[in-house]
Amino acid sequence: MNKMKKILCVAMALVMLLALAACGSSGGGSQPQPAASKIQTVVDGKLTVATSPDFAPYEFYAVKDGTPELAGFDIALAGYIADHMGMELEIIPMDFDGVLNELAAGGVDLGLAGLSPDPKRMESMDFSDIYYQGGQSFVTVQDKAELFASLEDTNKAEYAIGAQNGSIQMDLANEYSPDADIVPLVKVTDIIAELVGGKLDGAYIETAVAENYAKSYPQLAVVLEVPYDTEGSAVGVAKGNAELLAAVNAAVAAALADGSMDQFIAEANELSTGEIIEGLLEG
Ligand code: ARG
Repeated sequence: MNKMKKILCVAMALVMLLALAACGSSGGGSQPQPAASKIQTVVDGKLTVATSPDFAPYEFYAVKDGTPELAGFDIALAGYIADHMGMELEIIPMDFDGVLNELAAGGVDLGLAGLSPDPKRMESMDFSDIYYQGGQSFVTVQDKAELFASLEDTNKAEYAIGAQNGSIQMDLANEYSPDADIVPLVKVTDIIAELVGGKLDGAYIETAVAENYAKSYPQLAVVLEVPYDTEGSAVGVAKGNAELLAAVNAAVAAALADGSMDQFIAEANELSTGEIIEGLLEG
C-alpha cells in the first residue's frame, strides 16, 4: 500500500468514527422514551382495568382454599397485558353497565368484560383487536326447551325474556323478541337464577357463558344460536389514547401467538366448573 492510500484509509476511518460518534449522541435529551413510560394511564405506571365478574369463564370468582379470587381468561389476559407493558395492574370489579360507564368517563384505562366491539360503543371507547371468538345463544330451561324451535318462537307477549343491562344481548332481545316482556337484569348470574327459578322463560346470553352455567345448572337448555354482526370479544380502551391502544393490541397479538391465550381459556374453563361465587362479592 503506498503512502497516499494509507492516508486515505486513515482519513476514511476517521470520518466513519466521527459519523458513529455523531449518531450515538445525536438524540441527546430528546431520545425516544421506552414504550411504557410514554403511555398515559389514569394512574402513572399502573394499568386500571374494569371487569364484571358475573361471566364465567371470562371472569368470575373462583374459591381457592376458602378464599374467593378473581379468575377467568379476561383476568389472565389483563395480567398478561400489564406485564407486556411493564405496568402494575389494578382490577376493579363492578357491574357490567358500570364497566361501560367507567370506560366512557375515562375512569379506567381498560375494560375486560367479554366486551363486544359494538359500533354503538365506539363513540365513547376504543376497541382492541378480537382476542376471543364467541357466539350468542337463546337459553331456556329443559322443561320449556321444545317451545323454542326457532327465534320467531321467542317473540310472544306471554314470554318473559331476560338480558343483561347495557349488553348487546339486550339489543338481540329487542331485535328477535320485541313482542315479549323483555326483562333487563344487572347481572348474568341474576338471569341464570331467574331462569332456574321459573321467573324467566328465556334469555339471551353469550354462548360460552350459557354453556358454562349449564354445567352447574343442568336444568338450563341452550336451545338456539343467535346471529350477531360484531362477533368476538375485544378489550375496551379509554377513548383517544393511541399509544395505549397500540400497546394493548401488541400484547393481545403476543398472547394469541405464543399460546398464552389458549392456556388462559383452558384454565378458565377448568376453574369455572369448580366452586365459584356468582356475581360481585358485595352481592
Ligand atoms: N358481549 C356482551 C356485550 O359486550 C356481553 C358482555 C357481558 N360481560 C360481562 N362481564 N357481564 O354487551
